[in-house]
Amino acid sequence: MEESRHHRNSIFSQRLDRTTFTAYFLGAVVPLLALGFIVERYVIPTIPDKGHIVGMIAFVCSIAVLSLLSFLVLRKTTHSTLARIDRDNQRLSALLGASSSLTASEYASDIAATSVACAVELTGAQAAYLLVRSKHPEEPAELFESAGPDAEKLFQTIGDRIAELAELAMNSGRPAIKNGSGNRGGLVVLPLSGESSWLGVLAIVHARSASEFEGSKMDALNTLAGLTSVAMRNADLRDSQRNFFSHMTEILVTALDVHLDYNNGHGTRVAQTANRVGRALNLDDKQLQNLHFASLLHDIGMLKFDRSVPKGDKVCQKHAEIGYRMLARIRLWEDVAPIVHSHHERYDGTGYPQGLAGEEISLEARIITLCDAFDAMTSNSSYKAAMSFEEAIEEIRSCTGTQFDPRVSEAFLDLVAQGAISGQ
Ligand SMILES: [Fe+2]
Repeated sequence: MEESRHHRNSIFSQRLDRTTFTAYFLGAVVPLLALGFIVERYVIPTIPDKGHIVGMIAFVCSIAVLSLLSFLVLRKTTHSTLARIDRDNQRLSALLGASSSLTASEYASDIAATSVACAVELTGAQAAYLLVRSKHPEEPAELFESAGPDAEKLFQTIGDRIAELAELAMNSGRPAIKNGSGNRGGLVVLPLSGESSWLGVLAIVHARSASEFEGSKMDALNTLAGLTSVAMRNADLRDSQRNFFSHMTEILVTALDVHLDYNNGHGTRVAQTANRVGRALNLDDKQLQNLHFASLLHDIGMLKFDRSVPKGDKVCQKHAEIGYRMLARIRLWEDVAPIVHSHHERYDGTGYPQGLAGEEISLEARIITLCDAFDAMTSNSSYKAAMSFEEAIEEIRSCTGTQFDPRVSEAFLDLVAQGAISGQ
């Protein structure tokens, strides 16, 4: 890629040289030749004094030399402008690449890795570091990610100075810049802004001095720090959402277990078995995630019924429909709700609530139907004693093709044969 860019620039430079030379030739050389011809033919013969003739020739020659010098200066200026535009374009391209990676990154670690790598690319620095603010106000910012050929070795030498400048940058809300001495290099530390406080800093070390970061390099670094800050805040928000959902699900599952008098977490065991069967059937990550939440919450609709209503009561059959309506309103679970809706459908079409059959029932729901039945058969409850593991397996075999999907049964029984699902 570097080679191709160099090739493009080389062609462009050659074209530019040709254009400049043509302009110089037509605008300066041709008029000068014409002037020389007119002077030689019509002016010199009319001048009697030889001294005046020499002066005239010297005047024309000095105009020619000045014109040549201005051409050379123009050529040099054009080339240096072209080189600067190319460097700015490279920075812009690196920033655009980093921007799309930062936006797509889910986790803070990926964002930090992208940010420090881009900082090195933008500046050609020896090392770049991302430090995050410590949770304890009295402690210095902690190193989170680094990049660059000398990153580790340098941090051992100047880590304290970076931490010092990080505090300065976060307290002032402005970049902190310091020139190093000897081989310690210049340092630029940019604060990363959070919702209400500074998240940390982006620190860049250059072999020579901090003056290397002036002008458009500094503008690019400021833009990178801004993009990194936004991406880190978004990742933190997503992390909070995951944390909320994970703990809220745990609370709901516990409430459900207590409400239904389930033995030691029916939903959790169904989720574990369903996950193994789902993997054996090559479900993708999104399907496995939906299967997990649907397994944990498949009986959530039962919360609407009083505990005194017997679970076998016909009215309780509405729990699948009720559970569906409860979950469908939550946008992050809108794909989970239809699975919960169908977890009591049967492969032969005699289940409820819709009487769906075969492939009309989602694969995730067919998996839960079997895993739910298996756990119910092998667990003790207040109204029935548990079957033995072997009896439960026999029951699953005998209900394959009627209650259970043969494909799901086969995957389940294979896992039993491998010992991945056992009666323990
Ligand atoms: Fe159920």
